[in-house]
Amino acid sequence: MTACSILGGAGALGGALALRLAKAGHDVWIGSRQREKALDAAHAIKARLKCARIDGAENREAAARGEIVFLTVPYAVQAETLRLVAPQLAGKILVDATVPLRPPKVGTVQLPAAGAAALEAKAILGDGVRIVSALQTIGAEKLASGEAIECDVLAASDDADAVETVARLLEEIGLRTWHVGPLANAAAAEALTSVLIQINRRYKIAQSGVRITGRAKNAEAARGVSVHAVEGLPLLGPGDDLPALLLGALGKNGFTLQDGDVLVVAQKAVSKVEGRQVRLADVVVSAQSRAIAPEADKPAEIVELIRGESDELMRVRPGVIIARHKSGVVAANAGIDASNVAPPEAETVLLWPKDPDASARRIREAVQWGAGVRIAVIISDSLGRAWRLGTTGAAIGVAGMKPLRDRCGETDLYGRTLQATIVAVADEIAAAASLVMGEAAEGVPAAIVRGARYEPCEESDLRALLRPREEDLFP
Ligand SMILES: NC(=O)c1ccc[n+]([C@@H]2O[C@H](COP(=O)([O-])OP(=O)(O)OC[C@H]3O[C@@H](n4cnc5c(N)ncnc54)[C@H](OP(=O)(O)O)[C@@H]3O)[C@@H](O)[C@H]2O)c1
Repeated sequence: MTACSILGGAGALGGALALRLAKAGHDVWIGSRQREKALDAAHAIKARLKCARIDGAENREAAARGEIVFLTVPYAVQAETLRLVAPQLAGKILVDATVPLRPPKVGTVQLPAAGAAALEAKAILGDGVRIVSALQTIGAEKLASGEAIECDVLAASDDADAVETVARLLEEIGLRTWHVGPLANAAAAEALTSVLIQINRRYKIAQSGVRITGRAKNAEAARGVSVHAVEGLPLLGPGDDLPALLLGALGKNGFTLQDGDVLVVAQKAVSKVEGRQVRLADVVVSAQSRAIAPEADKPAEIVELIRGESDELMRVRPGVIIARHKSGVVAANAGIDASNVAPPEAETVLLWPKDPDASARRIREAVQWGAGVRIAVIISDSLGRAWRLGTTGAAIGVAGMKPLRDRCGETDLYGRTLQATIVAVADEIAAAASLVMGEAAEGVPAAIVRGARYEPCEESDLRALLRPREEDLFP
C-alpha cells in the first residue's frame, strides 16, 4: 500500500483520485489550504467507503505524509502551492496534473513561456523532486463516477522509474499509462486539454479523452507483470451469472480489462454457480467404494464421488486418494472439496466443474462480449506437486491461450539456443493469481494477471499441458 497525498484533494480531480486510490486500499491524505475542508472531504469519502484509510490535512502536512504526492490545483496557484510544500517534497515523486489554462479562453492552447507548466514546476523544485506530469487528459467526472475509463494517461518525466511507479499505481485505479518522454513533452498533454475541451463542446461529449492504439511487442519487458484481485463478489450459488458478476465487481473496483489480460477464476466459484454441490446423504454407495473406504480412511460416500469423477484411482492411502480426474488432471481426491466433512449425512461437498475447459470458454466468451476485449481465462485450483510439499495454484481449465509456451529456438543469456524449454505458462499464471486469491476464506474468487506473455489460441485446452501416460516414468 502506498501513502498518497493529494494537494487540492478537495477539488474535482483531486477528490476523484482520492476516492479511487482509497478504494484500491491505499493510504490517502487529502490536502487543502484549510484543514477543515480537507477533513470534510476525507469524511465524505469515508462515509461512502467504510474501509477507506483516508484523512485530511493542510497542504503542507499532507505533502509531508505522502510517499507519492499529487498536485491537483488550478494553474493560477500551481507555483505558490509548490513553493509552500517544496521542503516536504524532497526526494519524493510529484504527479503534476496542472493544465496551464487561462480562463476564459480555455479552448485555446496557451502554454507558458517556459514551454509547459511541468517545466515551471521543475524550475521551482529543482532536481530533488521526481516530477511526473500526468492525468491532464482524464476527466474528473469520469474518474469520480467509478465507471471504466477508456482513456489513457500520458506521463512525461525525466525519471523513467518514477513513471513506472506511478503507472503501477494508476493501473490499480483503472488507468493505463504511457511514458511519453521527457518532462518537456508534458507540453503536448497540457495542450491536448484545450483540444479536448473543443471536442467536448463541438460534439457534445461529456468528457472526451485520448487512447493510444496498437500493442506493445514486448509488453512483459516494458511493463512487468501485475496481479489484481477481483473483490466484492456476493456469495455465489447455483445458476448465478458469474461473468456478469465478475464484470460488475471489476467495474466497482474501477478496473478496466485490457486486451491480453488473463482472468483467473477459482474452481470453487465456477463449481458453485454450475451447481456442483452434492449432499453426501444423497450419494448411493457401491460395494466397491465401501470396500475402499477403510483403506482411504474416508467416508464411503466421498470414495464413491471420487470414483465417479475419475477415470482411475492411482494410489489409495489413509487420508488421500490420488485420482486421474475425467479431465485428465491428476489430483488428490479428484479435486473434491471435502474439507468440512463430518458427519456425512449433513454435509455437502463440491465437485470440480464437469468440463473445466468448457467452463473457461463460456466465461471467456461472456466476459469478452461484455468488456469488448480479447482475453484468456484460466480455471484454477490449489494442487499438490509430486515430490514436493505444499500446494500451489494450478490451471485445471483454459480458454484463449496455449497452456504451454514453447521457448525452444530462443537464445539464453550466452546466445545458446534453447533446446528443450517448455514453460507451463498457464500454471505459472494460475500460481501468480493465487497469491492474491488465497483460499476460500479470503473471499477473492478471481484475479486478473496483466502483462504475462502467452500464446493466444482459440482452440486451446488443458490436455496439451498433461504428460501423456506413455511418457510417465513412474507408472
Ligand atoms: N477537472 C478535471 O477534469 C481535470 C482533468 C485533468 C487535469 N485537471 C487539472 O487539475 C488541476 C485541478 O483541477 P480541478 O478541476 O480539480 O480544480 P478545482 O476543483 O477547481 O480546484 C482544486 C483545488 O484547488 C484549490 N484552489 C482552487 N482555486 C484556488 C485559488 N484561487 N487559490 C488557491 N487554491 C485554489 C482548491 O483547494 P482548497 O480550497 O481545498 O485549498 C480546490 O479544491 C487543474 O490544473 C486542472 O487543469 C483537471
